[in-house]
Amino acid sequence: MPAAGFSVSASAGSEFDAKITPIVIISCFMAATGGLMFGYDVGISGGVTSMDDFLIKFFPEVYRRKHETKESNYCKYDNQGLQLFTSSLYLAGLTATFFASYTTRNLGRRLTMLIAGVFFIVGVILNGAAQDLPMLIVGRILLGCGVGFANQAVPLFLSEIAPTRIRGGLNILFQLNVTIGILFASLVNYGTNKIHPWGWRLSLSLAGIPALLLTVGALLVVDTPNSLIERGRLEEGKAVLKKIRGTENVEPEYNEILEASRIAHQVKHPFRNLLQRRNRPQLIIAIFLQIFQQFTGINAIMFYAPVLFNTLGFKSDAALYSAVITGAVNVLSTVVSIYSVDRVGRRVLLLEAGVQMFLSQVVIAVVLGLKVSDHSDNLGRGYAIFVVLMVCTFVSSFAWSWGPLGWLIPSETFPLETRSAGQSVTVCVNLLFTFVIAQAFLSMLCHLKYGIFAFFSAWVVVMSVFVLFFLPETKNVPIEEMAEKVWKQHWFWKRFIADDDDKTNGADGAVKLARP
Ligand code: BGC
Repeated sequence: MPAAGFSVSASAGSEFDAKITPIVIISCFMAATGGLMFGYDVGISGGVTSMDDFLIKFFPEVYRRKHETKESNYCKYDNQGLQLFTSSLYLAGLTATFFASYTTRNLGRRLTMLIAGVFFIVGVILNGAAQDLPMLIVGRILLGCGVGFANQAVPLFLSEIAPTRIRGGLNILFQLNVTIGILFASLVNYGTNKIHPWGWRLSLSLAGIPALLLTVGALLVVDTPNSLIERGRLEEGKAVLKKIRGTENVEPEYNEILEASRIAHQVKHPFRNLLQRRNRPQLIIAIFLQIFQQFTGINAIMFYAPVLFNTLGFKSDAALYSAVITGAVNVLSTVVSIYSVDRVGRRVLLLEAGVQMFLSQVVIAVVLGLKVSDHSDNLGRGYAIFVVLMVCTFVSSFAWSWGPLGWLIPSETFPLETRSAGQSVTVCVNLLFTFVIAQAFLSMLCHLKYGIFAFFSAWVVVMSVFVLFFLPETKNVPIEEMAEKVWKQHWFWKRFIADDDDKTNGADGAVKLARP
């Protein structure tokens, strides 16, 4: 059996004639707005939930406790409703992923992004105009649906439309925009905190900017050739391919997409196919990377930094200000990753970050343990600055490792036949554990107190050991050679990838591709 369809992959594009055309630039812009929207939603809730006007309107109980001195510092914000405000978005997002995987396949990437944009806009309107808690939560749920649809479609859209030689960079560019969205949100919160009593409304409404950009963008761009061809619109697909590649000479790439789509059609049950033994290594790695990414504790910081700094005795302004600092560190350190990921490799980044994250978390736990008691936040100025510094140390290491690589590695290790189902499992598991952290963090802070940082540091040890033994290096390995060069060489995973590549057709009618 020829290695048909196999070269539709990251590395193969170098053989194709492809210019960086305006349409490709517009697709970068799409990535920016999809990522910005996700990041803005991540970053906005922490600041809003620490604003008094917001608490008085929706969570008077929390407001009362916040200003009551006899309540333990660590428990001021422990309120299920308040946590639901943050976490409902992720719950909705992970449910939406399954619908999104259907629409991306059957309606196309472009329409799925448009659906995301519409969800975002309606969600933003409900949030900005919220009169009561249900209206607020319904708005968050709609934003969550937007995130589920956008995070499935935008990365897929990007990797299909990008010339191969800039595909890796574009992948991390998406994460870069997530971090810019988070930073933008904390800056907005810093400003709106001074506007009474409706500053929080402005915070929630400004999400309309990235939402509108995404919607208008989705209306303007064409769908990817892959999606058009997959849905039988062959001539249109070819015309689009010529347009985006800026050349008439698209026959080789066109034929490969055609072949890839033929093979994809033979996989009748994408999710069942994903469960085959030979697909186990990539699936396990993708799932664990998502769980570990969230158990670094990053979103405890991203969601609740202002609340956390407030808990430590920072005044409201200083708390929001510190969140801006950590947000900026997050953006800058992501750039480090773009630069170094293909030079030093994935494993080095993850292992170095493991050490840095572990040390900073332990130091934070010790300082808080010694300095913050239940009822008095006597963390002096010197210690407060030190804690912010340690939080920055933690955030920077996350941002050049687990942040982007949690998304990059699954996207480059799944073979073509399982790539899209794999992507939806990746997004779903990520949002599930984002939800778990969002919902549990404030209660955990209340019960574990400073021990929460020790808790996350223990997870950092576990995930670093996992990387050490189970995560193969994928730097500079062309996607189509992963099985040969990575999985078959790995001391543990090779047992799952049997040397049966010449056989075709596994169970489920899934076609097994022959390696050259
Ligand atoms: C994670 C988000 C996180 C963000 C922080 C992303 O990779 O998936 O949960 O909030 O990084 O920058």
